[in-house]
Amino acid sequence: GTGDLVIAVDGPAASGKGTLAKRLAAHYGLPCLDTGLLYRMVARAMLDAGHDIHDAAAAERIVGSFDEAGFPEERLRGREIGEAASVVAAMPAVRAGLLARQRRFAAQPGGAVLDGRDIGTVICPEAPAKLFVTATPEVRAARRHKELAGRGETAGFDSILADIRRRDARDSGRSDAPLKAAEDAVILDTSALTIEEVVAAAIEIVERRRGA
Ligand code: CDP
Ligand code: CDP
Repeated sequence: GTGDLVIAVDGPAASGKGTLAKRLAAHYGLPCLDTGLLYRMVARAMLDAGHDIHDAAAAERIVGSFDEAGFPEERLRGREIGEAASVVAAMPAVRAGLLARQRRFAAQPGGAVLDGRDIGTVICPEAPAKLFVTATPEVRAARRHKELAGRGETAGFDSILADIRRRDARDSGRSDAPLKAAEDAVILDTSALTIEEVVAAAIEIVERRRGA
């Protein structure tokens, strides 16, 4: 309803949007949805069932029937799943099949925080507060490298940087809901900022938008 605080957080891979979204949700006491996990679940289900990740008909069947409870997060965070998720995310039937549950989540009384690629442009175009979080590919690769090492997944910096560039190109280049900042989003370049600095800047932006 009127006065509900919906915060849209978008940005490229490993920009820090998930961390920021969770922190904003805690600050405002709102529920938070990492929409990337939905695309990762579709990718995981495709691979588990032995489908070719490019099989759009199989992806459309899966998105119509999959059970969110069946995917513990550690099975979704791996490197190949991010890559596979960006392949299924370019399929219009997959995006359409995930739309209603994201809109329902955003419509909760009081508001919600959602992070992804198209929250400000497609899922919640009316959100009062939109943040587009970004950082240079090198900074994002370094963050992801450290995060994966913490999970025990060893991968060289250069190959992670190549992953990030490929995913940026695929996510920005697709015709359905490409990664881009909404016209009324505030762009937050986090390349030289700590998480605390990003959170403080974001809260200031949200407060300004709420007052407007
Ligand atoms: O955490 P990271 O940014 O690496 O990935 P993610 O947010 O989990 O998203 C994985 C993939 O899902 C992205 O590369 C996008 O292709 C897709 N995605 C999307 O298309 N739209 C969203 N709202 C969220 C994710
Ligand atoms: O959700 P997204 O893929 O955009 O990124 P994330 O999972 O929130 O952040 C990726 C990694 O970067 C995490 O390990 C964060 O702790 C780290 N990070 C950081 O070092 N500095 C920031 N300003 C933001 C995130």
